[in-house]
Amino acid sequence: MKRLLVQSFGCQMNVYDGELMASAFRKAGYTLASEPEAADVILINTCAVRERAEEKVFSHLGRLRRLKERNPGLVLAVTGCMAERMGKEISRRAPYVDVIAGARSFGGIVGLAEAVREGAGAQISIGFDSPPPDRDVTVRSDPHRAFIAVSRGCDHRCTFCIVPATRGREKGRPLSELEAEVRRLVADGVVEVTLLGQNIDSYGKDRPEGEDLHYLLRACHEVEGLKRLRFVTSHPEDMQLEVLDDLAQLPKMCGALHIPPQSGSNGVLKRMARGYTRERYLEVVHEFRKRDPQGEVAADFIVGFPGETDEDFEQSVTLLEEVRFQQSFIFRYSPRPGTPSEKHFEDDVPLAVKAARNLRLLKAQERVSKEKHEAMIGRTFEVLVEGPSKKDPAVLTGRTRGNHILHFPGAEDLHGELVEVTVESCSPVSLRGRVAG
Ligand code: SAM
Ligand code: F3S
Repeated sequence: MKRLLVQSFGCQMNVYDGELMASAFRKAGYTLASEPEAADVILINTCAVRERAEEKVFSHLGRLRRLKERNPGLVLAVTGCMAERMGKEISRRAPYVDVIAGARSFGGIVGLAEAVREGAGAQISIGFDSPPPDRDVTVRSDPHRAFIAVSRGCDHRCTFCIVPATRGREKGRPLSELEAEVRRLVADGVVEVTLLGQNIDSYGKDRPEGEDLHYLLRACHEVEGLKRLRFVTSHPEDMQLEVLDDLAQLPKMCGALHIPPQSGSNGVLKRMARGYTRERYLEVVHEFRKRDPQGEVAADFIVGFPGETDEDFEQSVTLLEEVRFQQSFIFRYSPRPGTPSEKHFEDDVPLAVKAARNLRLLKAQERVSKEKHEAMIGRTFEVLVEGPSKKDPAVLTGRTRGNHILHFPGAEDLHGELVEVTVESCSPVSLRGRVAG
């Protein structure tokens, strides 16, 4: 029996694509390995969003090279956005890689790996669209939670972003197909589904009338046995008020939005070509909270974008403090080859300044998180139990609807269950509590 190992870097879409590729190998008779040493094929599913993500893959490949020296029959495949962006450079810098298949063209991944095993030499598949493999819903890393990609690609052109180049134009999947995927997952034990799109709010723009995010949420919500529904990532420019209504009205919908502002400065937002102002961003958050006062908002920020002054950066800090995000993912600007910002703007914010701004924003978020968590003490929240905590097997870890991590003592039979938990203490990153009642 041949064995496959998938190692995904980067975003949730990559986790999903990794599961699709694993499904295809499983169909071809492979089983899944848990260690690189036990694998016949290793897929490294990569991210190209920042230079550091790519460097990480090259150093990982360096380690796998030694494994391949000991086991020459091992097939090494690099897939994902980095493969799409720099396939030829990967073969040059890491000539021991056998298969390169891009983020748009991994549909034939099994055939490529098999060709290598049969002695056909290195295989490369980039620069075109091929339909991704069908999903085997039993192939997934989490028994109770699953992702579903509702669309691929992105039609925005944020000046810093490589994704339109690696994943191509936005293409939505048929609503009926998505609904059926939710049903199959739920029949297999999934209770929480997260719908994925680079820009999920524009789902449906290339689909017939009646297929948009609002209708999709309503259709998924109908699936019996599903307990929670989420979606990411939102773009302020495409957010529909109807969808904000759904968030507040549909009982299975979790009141949490991941809606990256990227910056709080209108000057920077303009150079990023994000298509909205700080004021418009705040208006969207206001519309959400008007409908759901407990609603949580998560952010992505880029610090050190070309031309970002101290004053511009302060605007990001004040935006964070004004919105009081549940969580912020903070990134230092990394010029990506071929993107508009790389071509037209100088990367003029020194690394030390980027690092200091990154830290400052992190600290601001930490303060907000601590205050929000303290205000939750004594209150009771519905938690979906994910499993035992990493530190103590007698403690369970779960998430509230607003995405707060909550630890509490409990036994294994609660895995995958919704439990009411009263918060007793907290840190900036998580909450602790006890089953209510
Ligand atoms: N719409 C996408 C999503 O679904 O998350 C955003 C693409 S990207 C995978 C996620 C985040 O990475 C962005 O929101 C942005 O904050 C950050 N990012 C993208 N390009 C970047 C760059 N060149 N430098 C630093 N951070 C970047
Ligand atoms: Fe990238 Fe902007 Fe699309 S961040 S994925 S071009 S919405």
